Amino acid sequence: MPIPAFDPREFRATLGTFTTGVTIITARGADGLPVGVTANSFNSVSLDPPMVLWSLAKSSRSLQAFQQAGHFAVHILSAGQEELSNRFAKSGADKFSGVNLGEAAGGAPLLPDCSARLQCRTSFVYEGGDHLIFVGEVVAFDRSGLPPLVFQAGKYAVATRKVTTPAPAATLDAGWSEDHLPYLLGRAYFQVYFRIREQVRADGLSDDEYFILSTLAVRDGRTQAEIEAGLSHAGCNCGFPVLAGLRQRGLLRGEDSPRDLLWFLSDEGRRRTLQLIAGAKDIESTVLDGLGEWDAVALKNLLKQLVLSTDPGLPDLWSPSSLHATAAGA
Ligand SMILES: Cc1cc2nc3c(=O)[nH]c(=O)nc-3n(C[C@H](O)[C@H](O)[C@H](O)COP(=O)(O)O)c2cc1C
Repeated sequence: MPIPAFDPREFRATLGTFTTGVTIITARGADGLPVGVTANSFNSVSLDPPMVLWSLAKSSRSLQAFQQAGHFAVHILSAGQEELSNRFAKSGADKFSGVNLGEAAGGAPLLPDCSARLQCRTSFVYEGGDHLIFVGEVVAFDRSGLPPLVFQAGKYAVATRKVTTPAPAATLDAGWSEDHLPYLLGRAYFQVYFRIREQVRADGLSDDEYFILSTLAVRDGRTQAEIEAGLSHAGCNCGFPVLAGLRQRGLLRGEDSPRDLLWFLSDEGRRRTLQLIAGAKDIESTVLDGLGEWDAVALKNLLKQLVLSTDPGLPDLWSPSSLHATAAGA
């Protein structure tokens, strides 16, 4: 639909609806110094000969270097490279410091851990309004299989594949709960934890005991109140009888302190807990392998978003200071 007055912000937002990957393009300038910019204007042009293009703002500090270089390297960023993308999107800073660089055709710096990389010889440079369009012939490329970083509507995103089987109709009389978030979360948790539970039971432990031991494996020397605060979200019974039972079986020891009784893992308790955690990690890997790397990244990303957006202020289990603060304030 045409817009009456051409609003640049609206134009930018409209272009932003086109979902892209994110690249960093590098080159070595005539002065021998490396340059690099984050760019999502990258696109494929031709298969035979193999050619790609991207565009660079005329205001870019690296413009002259790219014009003179004769070669450039395109790095298609992986989902974990958001920080690197931000670093190369800032003008002037020392963008390459601390990065383990290789060397591409024409001396262009080659960045590690990308989804894919293309080494190019610059074939044409065209005028494109306030940008220059660089077209390059691809002389070498490689691909890691890492899931890509995505850019959508001005924000980073991750790619996930669509489920191809039709979702069940969410009607009240045909099992409304099948598409109901708490049902899906609960069922997914049950099905994943079910496998871990088998190991826990084989080790003679209850779920509550396993949760307590694994919390103390992160950091022990916690009071009962601190353990309870950290595990309240799991509905865990961390009462004195459970702790005392673990002590009686030689898995925990209690130490008096001016604050309260502090609970520590015994050597045997630590050994057994670390073994169980290693088993749980293996089960996690198997489950995530079944999803594939892309969907594993997307799933964890969505779950973290959900945890953050619905957090009623639970203590962070992994941060000693926040746990102390919450427990002390409770
Ligand atoms: C996701 C993303 C995509 C970008 N795409 C482009 C692009 O295609 N072309 C461009 O000139 N700048 C693009 N930029 C902005 C440049 O990365 C930024 O202006 C950079 O600071 C230029 O560096 P320089 O001035 O040191 O050369 C993008 C920035 C981000 C965050």
